[in-house]
Amino acid sequence: MSIDSILGDFDLLKPMVMRASAQSGLFDIVASSQLTFDEIVESLDYLDPYTLRLLIQALDEYGYMLIKDDKVLLTELGKTLARNIAFINSVTSRYTASGLFSYAPLALHERLERGANYFELSHKEQYWQLVNRDPNLYASFEQGYSGNFDSDSLLDRAQLTKTDELFKARNILELGSGYGDTAYFILKSGFSGNITVSDLSNRIPVLTAQSRWQDFQGRVYISAIDFFTDPIPHHSTILLDSILADWDDDQCIILFRRIRSAIKENSGKLVISEVTRFSNDDGIDAIGKLTLACAVSGRVRSEEEVENLIRTAGYTKITLAGSSEHRFTLVAY
Ligand SMILES: C[S@@+](CC[C@H](N)C(=O)[O-])C[C@H]1O[C@@H](n2cnc3c(N)ncnc32)[C@H](O)[C@@H]1O
Repeated sequence: MSIDSILGDFDLLKPMVMRASAQSGLFDIVASSQLTFDEIVESLDYLDPYTLRLLIQALDEYGYMLIKDDKVLLTELGKTLARNIAFINSVTSRYTASGLFSYAPLALHERLERGANYFELSHKEQYWQLVNRDPNLYASFEQGYSGNFDSDSLLDRAQLTKTDELFKARNILELGSGYGDTAYFILKSGFSGNITVSDLSNRIPVLTAQSRWQDFQGRVYISAIDFFTDPIPHHSTILLDSILADWDDDQCIILFRRIRSAIKENSGKLVISEVTRFSNDDGIDAIGKLTLACAVSGRVRSEEEVENLIRTAGYTKITLAGSSEHRFTLVAY
């Protein structure tokens, strides 16, 4: 096997090229005047000319710049980047690889060297708090939302509708609903009760703006609830879908205990569902997990690991309602 067959696996180059170009002033100078290759290199004389030339060529190959008759121009992609340099600089670091293509400053390198809490150490707040506070970041959730792939089957949401404890409930409170895809899937699959979707305050406008809720008028409620700091309303069925992987063990236990005080004695239950694979491709499993690890302090856990955390939080009965290659669902009483 030749080296060519593995080189693509090391392609962290593109985001690094873009970050370095944005931070070095290259985009500013190309945006402000139509200069030739040589003139640009001359103007940025504090940068290594050899690397700078390669950067410009790489940006041409990536479609951000266009080298035409020796002039260097910005394409539409490049103009978009040039308009947003301040934002890009605020969310990327020297180590950022995937940060430019995501909604937060991600740095696998830092997690590797500094441990699970590196994000909070560097940014003085947790990832989700930063996302909730910065309008650019929470707006990018909506922009990044793509209906192009069938996330219902990739994430095996059908497992939730096969979970009677959830699907036959009269009322569900979902915490950390994100864009609301899980709630929508449950509703469109024939759920006949009411469902409250909730998330951090700045996610709420994105949830309320969706016209798809109109098909289920009177049965969908939307509420801002920070599940670590706000009182969790009393409910008989509370759902957490794909939340735990964001949090370390102690934080999961705190969350379970808070929910325990909110679910009704006797009949109340917590339904916990976690995605364990993020790709249908047999050969790709770790990339999705690594991307998560760049930002949040949790990890993708096995059903046994989650069950142990639930027990530690004082729940007395736990049942496995579903388990597939892509997710598992536990019900805790
Ligand atoms: C990985 S997403 C899961 C979204 C959704 N449950 C799903 O399965 O598609 C995690 C969600 O938790 C939300 N979240 C993070 N911290 C939260 C908190 N303290 N209170 C409420 N929601 C929170 C985030 O805003 C985000 O929407």
